[in-house]
Amino acid sequence: MDIEFNSGSTINEIQGDALILIISESELEHGGLSEGWNDRISLLGKTGLFSGKLNQTYVLPLDNPSGCPVAILVGKGDQLLTTEDLRQMAVQTARAALRLKAIKLVFKVSENIQELTVGKDILSIAYALSEGLLLGSYRRPTYKQEQSQYNGPNSVIFTIEKKSADAVERDWNLGIQRGLAFGEATNLARNLTNMPGNLLTPSDLAVAAIEVAERYRFPSEVLDERAVGKGSVNPPRMIVIRYQGTGHWDNVVGLVGKGITFDTGGISLKRAPGMEELISDMGGAAAVLGVMEALGRLRPRINVVMVIPSAENMPSANAFKPGDIITSMSGRTIEVLNTDAEGRLVLGDALTYAREWGAKRIIDVATLTGAVLSTLGDIATGAVTNNEEFMERFLAASNVSGEKIWQLPAYPEFREMLKSEVADIRNAAGRFGGATTAGLFVGEFAEGLPWIHLDIAGTAFLSKERGVNPRGATGVMVRSMVQWLLSESE
Ligand code: BES
Ligand code: MN
Ligand code: ZN
Repeated sequence: MDIEFNSGSTINEIQGDALILIISESELEHGGLSEGWNDRISLLGKTGLFSGKLNQTYVLPLDNPSGCPVAILVGKGDQLLTTEDLRQMAVQTARAALRLKAIKLVFKVSENIQELTVGKDILSIAYALSEGLLLGSYRRPTYKQEQSQYNGPNSVIFTIEKKSADAVERDWNLGIQRGLAFGEATNLARNLTNMPGNLLTPSDLAVAAIEVAERYRFPSEVLDERAVGKGSVNPPRMIVIRYQGTGHWDNVVGLVGKGITFDTGGISLKRAPGMEELISDMGGAAAVLGVMEALGRLRPRINVVMVIPSAENMPSANAFKPGDIITSMSGRTIEVLNTDAEGRLVLGDALTYAREWGAKRIIDVATLTGAVLSTLGDIATGAVTNNEEFMERFLAASNVSGEKIWQLPAYPEFREMLKSEVADIRNAAGRFGGATTAGLFVGEFAEGLPWIHLDIAGTAFLSKERGVNPRGATGVMVRSMVQWLLSESE
């Protein structure tokens, strides 16, 4: 998508498929709109067709000499707008534009928009609106023979009628650039996560990752991996991409994403209902790759090593089995009690590998447990950490991005539950506290480095559209991770 800022021209001068107007409740009641609009829009209010309440949209055909055949009215309510409100309004606007099959949007912005917001900051306004437009206009690719000719909106012009000062224009452009980076990165993660297991194997995922690396000339490497992928004819891959944003390769952040391209459970086979959703078991991998896309666009002063351990978890004559004892890359031996607890096995090796590349802090993102769904549903991502300060800073970033995260307690008693009689650690600890024990298993491989685990099993893939997210893949945690990286780079 292409987004631009323009000031100093009237809306009639700009051609488009839809004109977007933000309208408050009191404007509807008391007028206050520009000439020509007042009567028609207040009529909508009187008939109850459009109230101006936050996030309401209404499509109005235009006959006056305007550059667009229709207007999309979007309500803002009467309260001051938060970043989250602005983002959500833009999402609803984009969805209305999709229904209209509009390609070019002209987004009228009032010159006093700052006064309508809590933060009063142009960059944040431009960021939230742009990001929302991208998130809201996402459409899941289909594989139908008959493909629609329409691919969603591809250009947006924010326009203020009065000519803006240079500093204002600069902030708009910076905010737009940020919104584009966050939005496109999230949509990249959504596209990968929505892909079916037969069309996205570990080697396909590696190709997709290398494509991102080559686009931004990031160094990358792909290694072969082992245990979990043993049962599959599609061999495993360990994918590494590095981003160096400062003069020295120091203070490196490790980002590790679970890349199980399909999880049948292996020999500990899952039951059939709902198994198709496990195409999303590489949602963590997609998220960290999305972060690399955003880093390529924004180039902050920070160093990152991204590691994706990827495999397909299948039952077969070669598959690993319950009772097997395997040796991890770190040398730790693991008693496999359940082959469906595969994510933590590949993640453990990936953390070890991130350390070898110099990671000094690590975040892992994974669709790791059904247990996190029992607690947080598909509403919030569950977090486990060994470092409260790190966690607090990350939670602050997630407040900006609007993604919900809830920290789970990591009492040492949970770690005790992972003790094995015959190996250094075991990969499953029963039903109780499952999200925490899984997290702590992974954390073991951080070897004391500050670490945060994000369990997105509930939030990576939705059965119904909610908030900024469509049905299916959400690309969750891309925006919180990028926001945190930007805050660390300042
Ligand atoms: N990928 C699954 C978790 C999952 C379940 C993600 C449903 C998305 C939707 C993970 O590999 C898994 O199977 N976890 C097991 C662990 C158990 C065997 C200890 C689980 O949660 O049941
Ligand atoms: Mn599993
Ligand atoms: Zn899994």
